[in-house]
Amino acid sequence: MERTLAILKPDCVRKNLIGAVIEKIQNAGFKVVALKLTKLTKETAGEFYAVHKERPFYGELVEFMSSGPCVPMILEKDNAVADFRALIGATDPAEAAEGTVRKLYADSKGENIIHGSDSQENAKLEGAFFFSTEEVVKIHA
Ligand code: RTP
Ligand code: MG
Repeated sequence: MERTLAILKPDCVRKNLIGAVIEKIQNAGFKVVALKLTKLTKETAGEFYAVHKERPFYGELVEFMSSGPCVPMILEKDNAVADFRALIGATDPAEAAEGTVRKLYADSKGENIIHGSDSQENAKLEGAFFFSTEEVVKIHA
């Protein structure tokens, strides 16, 4: 069973879409094994997206990700990383496929509702960024 790290971004929380997006995630067969509501500081948001430090949108991204509460979650499913990226759609909602979370709910490429890990290696690092081992439940015997 594979895991991925998702974040319902501050725009998702502000638009009262936590429930709608989690419903879609669960209907797609993902099991929630860790979840919290938290607020990133500029420092922690910058650290999480440090890979984009040199990109022109980095400052805006850090401002946005620290602009309000967000909901990180660890999700479990066969092929979780790739299947979750397919479920959320392209970074820019204008390019996202019909029915994807970003197509349905996102306003722009910057404010795009949700994050999903892009590899199994990053899923592990990002999971550990938000959750201690005690905060991740074991749903398999
Ligand atoms: P994420 O990491 O949040 O799941 O998104 P992603 O893989 O689809 O896209 P990535 O290239 O990793 O970019 C990270 C986040 O930065 C913001 N962004 N803004 N204005 C822009 O051109 C721009 N490009 C990226 C988005 O919030 C994107 O999700
Ligand atoms: Mg990314």
